[in-house]
Amino acid sequence: MPENETTTTAEPGLENLLHESRTFAPSAEFAAQANAQPGIYDEAKADRLAFWAKQATELVSWHKPFTEVLDWSNAPVARWFGDGQLNAAYNAVDRHVEAGHGDRVAIHFEGEPGDTRTVTYADLQREVSRAANALNALGVVKGDRVVIYLPMIVEAVVAMLACARIGAAHSVVFGGFSADALRSRIADAEAKVVITADGGYRRGSASALKPAVDEALAPKDGAEPTTVEHVLVVKRTGQDTAWTEHRDVWWHDALEAADVQHTPVWVDAEHPLFILYTSGTTGKPKGILHTTGGYLTQAAYTHKNVFDLKPESDVYWCTADIGWVTGHSYVTYGPLVNGATQVIYEGTPDSPHQGRWWEIVEKYKVSLFYTAPTAIRACMKWGEEIPNKFDLSSLRVLGSVGESINPEAWMWYRRVIGADKAPIVDTWWQTETGAMMISPLPGVTATKPGSAQVPLPGIVADVVDDEAKPVPNGGGGYLVLSEPWPSMLRGIWGDLERFKDTYWSRFQGIYFAGDGAKKDEDGNIWLLGRVDDVMNVSGHRLSTTEIESALVSNPLVAEAAVVGAADEMTGQAVVAFVILRGEHAEKASTDEGSKEIETTLRNHVAKEIGPIAKPRKILVVPELPKTRSGKIMRRLLRDVAENRTVGDATTLADSSVMNLISAGLAKPAGAED
Ligand code: PRX
Repeated sequence: MPENETTTTAEPGLENLLHESRTFAPSAEFAAQANAQPGIYDEAKADRLAFWAKQATELVSWHKPFTEVLDWSNAPVARWFGDGQLNAAYNAVDRHVEAGHGDRVAIHFEGEPGDTRTVTYADLQREVSRAANALNALGVVKGDRVVIYLPMIVEAVVAMLACARIGAAHSVVFGGFSADALRSRIADAEAKVVITADGGYRRGSASALKPAVDEALAPKDGAEPTTVEHVLVVKRTGQDTAWTEHRDVWWHDALEAADVQHTPVWVDAEHPLFILYTSGTTGKPKGILHTTGGYLTQAAYTHKNVFDLKPESDVYWCTADIGWVTGHSYVTYGPLVNGATQVIYEGTPDSPHQGRWWEIVEKYKVSLFYTAPTAIRACMKWGEEIPNKFDLSSLRVLGSVGESINPEAWMWYRRVIGADKAPIVDTWWQTETGAMMISPLPGVTATKPGSAQVPLPGIVADVVDDEAKPVPNGGGGYLVLSEPWPSMLRGIWGDLERFKDTYWSRFQGIYFAGDGAKKDEDGNIWLLGRVDDVMNVSGHRLSTTEIESALVSNPLVAEAAVVGAADEMTGQAVVAFVILRGEHAEKASTDEGSKEIETTLRNHVAKEIGPIAKPRKILVVPELPKTRSGKIMRRLLRDVAENRTVGDATTLADSSVMNLISAGLAKPAGAED
C-alpha cells in the first residue's frame, strides 16, 4: 500500500467516527516525484508576498512584468501585481503553441450521446481567435460584458477565452437557471451579447436552451429593456429554434466569417476577467467580480500543486459545469494556463448507464479527477461493482469540492476509485475566493478522512470565536481568511457597500467566509457548513431568502420560510414551509388539493430560479415560528424538517405556534422528486 496509514485500522463502511480518527501519510513513492515539496510551507511563511510573486512569475506569462506585488491600501479592494499587463487567453492557449506544444491535446470532449472531439492547443488557438474576431465584429470591445449560457461543450470554454482575449468580462450563467434568473443577471451585468446554444444533451435527450434566452430578452411589463444587442447561437442539437432577425447570429456563421488571426488585447492585471453570480443571504444574487493577474496566478498554482499536475503525461478531468466557479478555475483557467490535457463531458454520470464516468476514466486514462461529494455518494449508492468493471488504474490524485465530504464517502472514494493509494485532496474554497484555499498537498500533507486539513502555502486562514480570537486546537467557531490572497474577489459588481458589509464587517479587517469550522487536536480544519442563510444542495449554493421570495411571488402564498434540511445524498435539501392565502388554505386540507398546490409551487420556484432550487418538500402550515421582533426562527423549522424534537422555543412571540405546526404536519405532505 503506497500510502502509509498511521493510526487505527477499520473496515470500510464503518461509522464516520471511526474513519475520522485515521491519518494517511503521503507515500514515499508519491512524495519523491511530487511537484510540491515539504519546504513549500516554510518558504511561503517566510515571505508570503515573495512567494506569490514567484508563482506569478513562473506560472503566468506577462506582456509587461509587474514590479508591485500587493497594494492593500484600498482594503478590502486588493491590487495584486497591479502594474503588470497580460492576457488570460494568451496564457491559456497561445503561449503553449509558441512553446511548441500546439499538437498537445487541450480537450478530449465527450458528448452525452457519445460524439467525441479532440481539440489541440493549436486548434484552440484558431477557434478562440476566430471567436474573438466574431465578438469584435458584433461590437464587443474591451470593458464590455458578455453573458454565456451554454451546455458543457467545447464552445463554452472557447467563448470564455474569446471574451478574455478581447478584454470583455464574461458572466457565465448555469444552463439550469431559468429565464427569469438569466434576465436578472443579464440586466445586472448590462451585457451586450449573450452566447447560447439551440440546446444540449442531458439524460439521453436533447433539451432546448435558446427559448430561455428569448424569454429573458423579451419585453416585460415594468422592466427596462435589456442592453443585449446580439445573441450568438451554437448549433449543438440541431433542433428547431425561433429566430430574431438582426439580433440572432449563428456561432458557426460568425466564426466562419472571422479571421483566424487575432492579437490578444493586453490588459492591466486588475482588469475584470469575469463576473459570476452566486447566492447570498438576501434575495438578490451577488455578481462576484474577479480580475486577471492574481486570479490566474492562484488558479494555476493551486491546480499544479494540489493535483500534482504533470502536463506532459497527466489527463485531468473535473466534472463541474462551467456555470459554477469550479468550472471557471479548474476547467477553463487553471488547467489551460498550466498546459494540461483534460476531459470535458457534457452529460450526467448515469447516462446511458451508471458506469459512464468510469468508462470515460478508462477510455482517456484519466489520472487526476475532481468531483463533488454528492456525486461520490450517488456512486456509492449504485454499488461498487459498477466502477469495479472498469480499469481505473490510471487515477493518481482524487479531488473533492463543494461541501464537506463525510468520512465514509472519503474512504469509499479512496478504496474503490483510488485503489487504496491515490491521495484524496478535499479542497475548501468559494466563488469569492476564486481558487482553492484550504487543502492538503498530495505528497506533502497527511490526510484525515473528512478534513480539508490546512491552508495552502501562501494562504492565512483561521477559526475564530465571536470576538475574532483564534480558537485553540479542539475548538470551533467561524472560518476567516486573515490576509489578502491573489485570487480574492475584488468586489460585488456595482455594489461596493454590499461587498464590505457581507464579508468585511463581521470581523474588522478580516474576511468572513460564512462557514462554521473546528480545529482538531492537531490543528487541522474541519468544515461544518454555513452559518448564514445559505444552503448547500449537492455542492451548489442556494439562498433561503431567494427561494422564499420566489414562493411569495406566487399568488397562492401569503408567507414562506425555507430551510436546508440534512440529506444523506445531497448534503442538504430544500424544505419550504408556506402559509397559503385565504381560500387556498382550505384546498390544502385534502390530499389531492395539497399535492396540486405543492406541484404548482415547486414548478413556480423552478420557473423563477431554476430546477435546482425546487424544494424537496413543501409543507403547508397555519403559522410560522417568529421571535418578538418578527424574525423567523429557522432553527425550529429545521428541527421539524429533520424529524427532530423541536428545540428551545422560548424566544418565540407565540410559543404555541410550534404545536400548531407539528399538529398540522401529522399528515405530512411531501412532493419528492
Ligand atoms: O460552505 C462552503 C462550501 O461551499 C461554499 C462555497 O460555495 P460556492 O461559492 O458555490 O463554491 C463551491 C465550489 C468551490 C463554501 O462557503 N464548500 C466548498 N468546498 C467545501 C465546502 N465545504 C466543505 N468542504 C469543502 N471542501
